[in-house]
Amino acid sequence: MAAPLTNPSAPLALLGGLSAAEFMRDYWQRKPLLVRAAIPGFNGLLDTATLRRLATQDDVQTRLIVRDGRQWALEHGPFPAKRWKTLSPEAPWTVLLQELNFHLPAAEALLRQFHFVPHARVDDVMVSHACPGGGVGPHVDSYDVFLLQGPGRRRWRISGQEDLSLRPGLPLKILKTFKPEQDWVLEPGDMLYLPPRYAHEGTALDDCQTYSIGFRAPTPQEWVAEFLMDQAEHLQLPGQYSDAGQAAAEHPGALPAVMNTYLQQQLQALTFDPAAIEDFNGRFLTEPKPHVFFLPPDEPVKPAAFRTAALRLGLHLDARTRLLFSGDHAWCNGEGFPLADDERETVVALADQRHLSAAVLGAGEAASPTRWKKTLWPMLYQWYEDGWLH
Ligand code: SIN
Ligand code: CO
Repeated sequence: MAAPLTNPSAPLALLGGLSAAEFMRDYWQRKPLLVRAAIPGFNGLLDTATLRRLATQDDVQTRLIVRDGRQWALEHGPFPAKRWKTLSPEAPWTVLLQELNFHLPAAEALLRQFHFVPHARVDDVMVSHACPGGGVGPHVDSYDVFLLQGPGRRRWRISGQEDLSLRPGLPLKILKTFKPEQDWVLEPGDMLYLPPRYAHEGTALDDCQTYSIGFRAPTPQEWVAEFLMDQAEHLQLPGQYSDAGQAAAEHPGALPAVMNTYLQQQLQALTFDPAAIEDFNGRFLTEPKPHVFFLPPDEPVKPAAFRTAALRLGLHLDARTRLLFSGDHAWCNGEGFPLADDERETVVALADQRHLSAAVLGAGEAASPTRWKKTLWPMLYQWYEDGWLH
C-alpha cells in the first residue's frame, strides 16, 4: 500500500497547534473550535470582480440573500453584472457561491489542507461575500463546517441550544429563537469549526468574504432508500407464495392477512452481503451530484501521446472527480472496478493525493509494465477522455 498521506500526530497551525488526531478525537462532530490565525496572512482566494464574474456563470451555484428588517429574500443565480448596482447597504446582502473548488484551483488546494478528513465526507468549498451587516441569519447546518475568514471581519455568535425550531414563512431556514452563548470577531485567517446542528450566525462587520469548507454526511433516509433501490435491481429471491390450506373464502374481497405475514417474513429474511454493501457505498459516495458535468478535452490526444505527456507532466484528478478505494476495489464517479495487487499502490496514491507525479507514474509502470499496458494506462486514458483527470 502507498505511504499514508498524513501524519495524524503532527501539530497543525491550521488547527491551532492541535494534531489532526487530537482534533478528530476531541472536536470533530462534538464541539466548536475557534482557531486564531489558522492560515496566517490569508486574505481570500479571489477579488470581488472575479467573484462577480463567477456569479454570472450558469455552471456556478449562486444564491443572493437580502435582509430587510425581519424580512429575508432569497434569489438563485446566475446574476448579471448589473444586479450588483441594485443592491444597497440599507438592505444588507450576502452572495454565496457554492462549489468554488470546482472553479478555482486555489479553492481546491485549500480543501486539500483538510485531508485529515476522509474524502468520502467532502462536500465543497463555498465563499460568501457580504456588505457590512450582511449575513444569512441564525441557523443550523447539517454539515460539519470550517468557517475561514477571508478579507474583512465577521462577527460569529454561536449556541449549543437545543431548540432548533424555525421561523415559519421565510424562504430560508432561520431559527425562531437564537440564544448566543459565545461571540467572536474573526479577522482574516481566523477559522471557526462547527459540528452539524450547532446554531450560529455570522454578521459581516466590513465588506467581507468567508470561506466555508463543508463536509457532508448522508442521512439514513436517503442512504438506505438509495441502497434498497440499487439492490432491487439485483434481487433474486427463490420460491413463490403458496396458500395451501387456505380456507374457502367467505369474503373473497378481503385481503388475506397471511399475505402480509408472508411479505413481512420475506423482508425479515433479507440479508445483504458485506461486499455488496461496500460496493454500493463506493458507488454512492463517489456519485457526482446530478448537476455536475465533466468537460472532456476538446481534441483528445491519442493514447500513446497521453502516456508520453503523463510521464513528463504527471496527472491530476479533475476537481469534480470523487475517487475512493477499499481493499481490492476502487470507485470513481459512481463506477466500481477491481484493483489487482500491482495496481493498488498507484490508485491509492491517486485517491489520497489526487495527483500522480511523473516520477510516481514512471516508477509504477517500471514495476509492472504488462499490467500498466493492459489495464492502468487504458483506464487512465478513459478517465482523461471523460474529463475525469487531466
Ligand atoms: C456565510 O458565510 O455567511 C454563511 C456560512 C454559514 O453560516 O454556514
Ligand atoms: Co451555516
